[in-house]
Amino acid sequence: MKLLILFSTRDGQTREIAASLASELKEQGFDVDVVNLHRSEQIDWQAYQGVVIGASIRYGHFHPLLDSFVKKHQQSLAQLPSAFYSVNLVARKPEKSTPQTNSYTRKFLLSSPWRPDLCAVFAGALRYPRYRWFDRFMIRLIMKMTGGETDTHKEVVYTDWRQVAVFAQEIAQFVRK
Ligand SMILES: Cc1cc2nc3c(=O)[nH]c(=O)nc-3n(C[C@H](O)[C@H](O)[C@H](O)COP(=O)(O)O)c2cc1C
Repeated sequence: MKLLILFSTRDGQTREIAASLASELKEQGFDVDVVNLHRSEQIDWQAYQGVVIGASIRYGHFHPLLDSFVKKHQQSLAQLPSAFYSVNLVARKPEKSTPQTNSYTRKFLLSSPWRPDLCAVFAGALRYPRYRWFDRFMIRLIMKMTGGETDTHKEVVYTDWRQVAVFAQEIAQFVRK
């Protein structure tokens, strides 16, 4: 069985999560294609038995291309078992880490014509040294207000890789059903 994982990333964490999901799913015997959603021109939907889309948040929003991709491909998405995961820093707080309690994810699910069968929210990465000064300044401000890391020399990965592995298992089970 072949699965498609599409990711929308700015700084790479959503791609790393996609790669981790792919390696778990390959261990479970699936063929997996991992594709950058921003560069996915032609998709042969017939080739896949399931699809996963992952996207990250920047300044409160997913990349606008996520919405247009979902609208454009909603019929194909509706015909396959599907899963969605979102990546953001708010999700480092357990009380904001479910599809219902993570406001970005909840809003997306409510407004999207796509109804993924499975959904997960993953905490992303904080990589101060890689940000432009304005982003570094803004993220530090947000971190200060929300009790997070404020040392701008640091890179912190909050992603719970066990949670990612569990999500891969859920996807595998669902697609096999
Ligand atoms: C400029 C910038 C803005 C961000 N805005 C938010 C935000 O509004 N809410 C949030 O929870 N996380 C925010 N984040 C954190 C990202 O979602 C997190 O770093 C994630 O890992 C990024 O994933 P990506 O590397 O796949 O793009 C922001 C990060 C950056 C660099």
